[in-house]
Amino acid sequence: MQQSAAAAFVASVYAHPTAASAAAGMSASAATGMTLREIPSTGEKIPVIGMGTSGSFEVDDGSPEYDALRDVLRRFFAGGGSVIDTAPTYGVAEDRLGALLAELNLRPKAWIATKLSGVRGREAGLAQFNASLARLKTDRVELLQVHNLGDLDTQLALIRDLKAQGKTRYTGVTHYLESSHDTLANVIAKEKPDFLQINYSVVSRGAENRLLPLAKDLGIAVLINRAFEDGKLFARVKDKPLPAWAGEAGITSWAQAFLRFALSNPAVTAVIPATGKPDRQSDNLRAGSGVSLTDKQRAALIEAIG
Ligand SMILES: NC(=O)c1ccc[n+]([C@@H]2O[C@H](COP(=O)([O-])OP(=O)(O)OC[C@H]3O[C@@H](n4cnc5c(N)ncnc54)[C@H](OP(=O)(O)O)[C@@H]3O)[C@@H](O)[C@H]2O)c1
Repeated sequence: MQQSAAAAFVASVYAHPTAASAAAGMSASAATGMTLREIPSTGEKIPVIGMGTSGSFEVDDGSPEYDALRDVLRRFFAGGGSVIDTAPTYGVAEDRLGALLAELNLRPKAWIATKLSGVRGREAGLAQFNASLARLKTDRVELLQVHNLGDLDTQLALIRDLKAQGKTRYTGVTHYLESSHDTLANVIAKEKPDFLQINYSVVSRGAENRLLPLAKDLGIAVLINRAFEDGKLFARVKDKPLPAWAGEAGITSWAQAFLRFALSNPAVTAVIPATGKPDRQSDNLRAGSGVSLTDKQRAALIEAIG
């Protein structure tokens, strides 16, 4: 059987982790062991485990859930994380994130990605971005994305202007449905943003067909949302033991297995799982070290979830 180029790459990383990882723009933080991957457009390296804020940061000010987010963030940065994805349309998520980063003095360590979301027209987009900056208590973000391709041409042009003004370091486009992948592929081929954010998981592997190889070819960094299918994957493995090889791959939970699956695709730069629970944050961060899964291990995971 012939090996695909992507499979050969994964196998080479597994066989020669140091040399192949360096060639692929990967390295690890000496302080935390967290794997870092390169953003192709600049060579900047970011940690492979990021975090989302949809749902998890949509909590009442002063509630027990809000208090837990302090620890979620402290553990995230202590474990080597920095990339945090949010959006002005995730309820109060930007407010909570901005307040907590300011209180904990963590903004300098954070790599914030937000979006222009559900707006039409340049003025509305700009007003929304300025409101995001105010909520996030910052004067710029690291990544600004067009959310779900809404009003794409106008909002992407605005993001490019904001990049030229130093208000965002990177441009991006996002979606979360496989039905959008063909359109997204055409968009990234034409627009060549710095980042693409899409859904990819053990059970939603459509991105492997065209989108991920194309992003790799074009030198576009990729963030993965919904690696847990918004949490639904955990119900599918309830009462199932981890695969026998998990230990040798350094995997001690299903969450780590799902994140390592997404990260073992060579086009993927980082995953952004969302949790409001400190222990789960620590669990997710543990998926950030270790070599890529082999083809055999990936196939076994797909079969186990079936
Ligand atoms: N179009 C877009 O651009 C788009 C769309 C969707 C998502 N996103 C971004 O991607 C992020 C991630 O996607 P998502 O929030 O939809 O889904 P997800 O990360 O696939 O799943 C989140 C769910 O998994 C649970 N979870 C997290 N870690 C866990 C662990 N270690 N063990 C067990 N359960 C765990 C969380 O519950 P608890 O909180 O109770 O732990 C939550 O219910 C979002 O937050 C958002 O930033 C972007």
